[in-house]
Amino acid sequence: MAAELDKRKLAYPPLIEPRINGNAEVAAGLAPVAAVLQRKVYAGTIIAAGGFDADGAASIVRLGDADLDASGRLFIANLDLPRRFAMDPPLNAYDRATFYGGDQRGYADHPSYDATAARASLQQQGTP
Ligand SMILES: Cc1cc2nc3c(=O)[nH]c(=O)nc-3n(C[C@H](O)[C@H](O)[C@H](O)COP(=O)(O)O)c2cc1C
Repeated sequence: MAAELDKRKLAYPPLIEPRINGNAEVAAGLAPVAAVLQRKVYAGTIIAAGGFDADGAASIVRLGDADLDASGRLFIANLDLPRRFAMDPPLNAYDRATFYGGDQRGYADHPSYDATAARASLQQQGTP
């Protein structure tokens, strides 16, 4: 299918990494990497998504298997996710129970990362 899509010069086809190998659901890292397979036959822009943390996002782009990485669940709980990925502070945990709506809970009530406050707190604790 990717080879056929390649002929059509799309902006980018959505690509989500699988959590299955054959018919079996498998642990993270044990499924074939869809971006790697697609890269072999698809010359256009590949945006990899599905289960990426900061290291995984950086390495799939560095290895050239994707041009960009997209995040879903982590973004919902970390509106400053690109900054967090760049600086490596802790991530807020997402709350699946709030994913499908209601109000701002789970979407806009997580604390953003404040590097200055974090540094001051570490200094107070005597950590250089
Ligand atoms: C609230 C929510 C709803 C989603 N709904 C759909 C959907 O209807 N169809 C779909 O293909 N993927 C859906 N996804 C999956 C995302 O498209 C995407 O694959 C995934 O969230 C990216 O992986 P990540 O969350 O590990 O970063 C949904 C994800 C979330 C968090």
